[in-house]
Amino acid sequence: MASPRNRNSRTWFAIAALGWLMAAFPAAAVMSPEERERFQCVGCHTGNAKIFTDPRTGEKKETLMDMARKQAADHAGVACQECHVEGFDTFPHFGTKILGCMDCHPREGAGAQEDAPYHFRRIEEEFKSTVHFTEHRKKFGCVECHHPHYFEATAHLGPPQAILEDHNKMCLNCHAAEPHGQVDTIGDRLIDPAKASLVGVHASIPHTVLHLRNTRCYDCHSGIEHVVSHTLPLGDDAPGCESCHTRDSVQARLYRYVRQVQNRGFTNPAMLKDSYVMGATRYILLDVLAYLLVGGSLLALVAHSIMRLVRPRQGQ
Ligand code: HEC
Ligand code: HEC
Ligand code: HEC
Ligand code: HEC
Ligand code: HEC
Ligand code: HEC
Ligand code: HEC
Repeated sequence: MASPRNRNSRTWFAIAALGWLMAAFPAAAVMSPEERERFQCVGCHTGNAKIFTDPRTGEKKETLMDMARKQAADHAGVACQECHVEGFDTFPHFGTKILGCMDCHPREGAGAQEDAPYHFRRIEEEFKSTVHFTEHRKKFGCVECHHPHYFEATAHLGPPQAILEDHNKMCLNCHAAEPHGQVDTIGDRLIDPAKASLVGVHASIPHTVLHLRNTRCYDCHSGIEHVVSHTLPLGDDAPGCESCHTRDSVQARLYRYVRQVQNRGFTNPAMLKDSYVMGATRYILLDVLAYLLVGGSLLALVAHSIMRLVRPRQGQ
């Protein structure tokens, strides 16, 4: 039995819903894309909507978007309908079509110059050579790792720690970080069927957790011929320990993404201020001290021998 209070709130809800719908569907034809975006899409897809269960499939779907985050990201200037091109002007949405990265990039004409450094076509080719694509070509696309709402190129991400977290989060969505990771379902996304423990999988690497926390997955799991690489070399093709634990690893591997961002010719000691990476870190002071010590001893030895030759010890 509904209490009056309950009935009241229901009435209010109905009025609010009506107002909301009226705001959502004014004469769409006379509006600019920006206005349509404000009234049509954002009204329903920000706020309190949370998760929606598709009645046809029973799948849980996230229907909220973080508008503030989108506005701060690389596609702030792209309106909803430029990507959501079909089926979204009506509700419920029907016969929908959404464009993917390669439908727009690399741009020709305006924007061609901005796109050039990103090598979209090479990236696509590299991605298509990975098991992600070859084994799962129907489901796996760029958007499995890059949500176009929030995509930010490395150069716009800020400090190295933020870059590391952003890049690794993409992989950890599916390859859970914790031992026997609990992350089995992310909406209707594809999850690694093996669901292996990441720490277990990497047990052959000493200090497993340290490595997983302080390096990017791609530092070990992509080729090193390019600063940004989407290959996924497996087994013997994967670069080994020495690709990081050597003198020039910062340039070649470990912090190549920072080099891309700042391009000021960092060297290992400058980049590895906060961590000691065996074989990669050198302390100049220690080096100088060592030279002084060895050089000094040598000098003393030579001087001593000369003295002995020139002035034989008394009593001999
Ligand atoms: C009246 C409110 C309303 C409006 C206006 C609206 N949506 Fe939706 N949208 C929903 C709801 C509810 C769902 C989840 C149910 C479904 O899938 O039909 C949804 C689902 C979606 C989905 C995910 C499901 C799918 O089919 O891919 C996308 C993407 C989407 N909307 C984009 C848009 C865009 C872009 C616009 C503007 C052109 C828009 N919506 C306008 C309410 C709305
Ligand atoms: C640069 C292209 C692009 C723009 C601009 C864009 N979307 Fe999307 N959107 C996508 C793609 C691609 C997906 C599917 C992502 C996936 O499969 O995970 C998506 C998914 C969604 C979803 C489903 C939930 C989710 O996060 O996956 C909603 C809702 C949505 N978009 C609403 C909007 C609204 C509202 C706007 C405008 C404010 C907008 N989109 C602008 C490309 C875009
Ligand atoms: C509807 C077409 C469209 C789709 C789909 C799209 N983009 Fe874009 N992208 C653009 C436009 C337009 C800009 C320029 C935005 C601006 O300057 O405000 C842009 C900007 C970028 C930039 C920044 C370039 C710079 O100036 O530094 C990158 C990188 C990028 N997109 C990558 C992607 C990726 C990755 C995807 C897929 C997840 C994608 N885009 C999907 C149209 C699109
Ligand atoms: C398995 C996950 C994954 C897939 C799939 C993927 N990427 Fe990426 N992508 C990444 C990661 C991680 C980075 C950051 C790595 C880096 O900058 O070295 C990145 C970086 C990028 C960048 C930014 C480069 C820069 O200079 O900041 C672009 C552009 C890009 N990817 C485009 C694409 C396109 C286009 C596709 C589909 C053909 C794609 N990616 C598929 C994970 C992925
Ligand atoms: C959308 C979910 C998803 C994302 C995101 C994802 N992966 Fe995967 N990954 C998979 C699946 C599923 C497989 C199993 C492929 C197969 O069937 O062999 C896999 C396989 C792999 C393998 C090979 C394992 C083997 O079977 O030999 C590596 C290495 C790997 N992923 C690394 C990464 C890295 C690094 C990233 C981030 C740049 C990433 N993955 C992002 C789902 C994902
Ligand atoms: C220090 C280098 C290194 C780092 C960092 C690293 N991996 Fe690995 N990964 C490896 C090596 C080496 C193997 C092969 C392990 C073996 O065969 O013993 C491997 C194997 C894998 C596999 C395949 C397991 C299988 O079933 O064969 C997946 C998936 C994977 N890594 C994902 C990731 C993800 C996700 C990250 C980031 C959180 C990551 N790795 C970080 C070196 C690394
Ligand atoms: C992607 C680069 C990378 C690769 C590949 C890599 N390491 Fe490391 N390693 C690091 C970094 C970075 C640290 C330091 C982490 C920290 O303390 O912040 C580290 C730390 C270590 C340490 C611990 C040093 C200490 O003082 O605690 C050992 C031992 C080690 N690595 C051995 C290996 C071995 C053996 C391999 C090959 C199986 C390997 N690493 C592959 C980057 C790498």
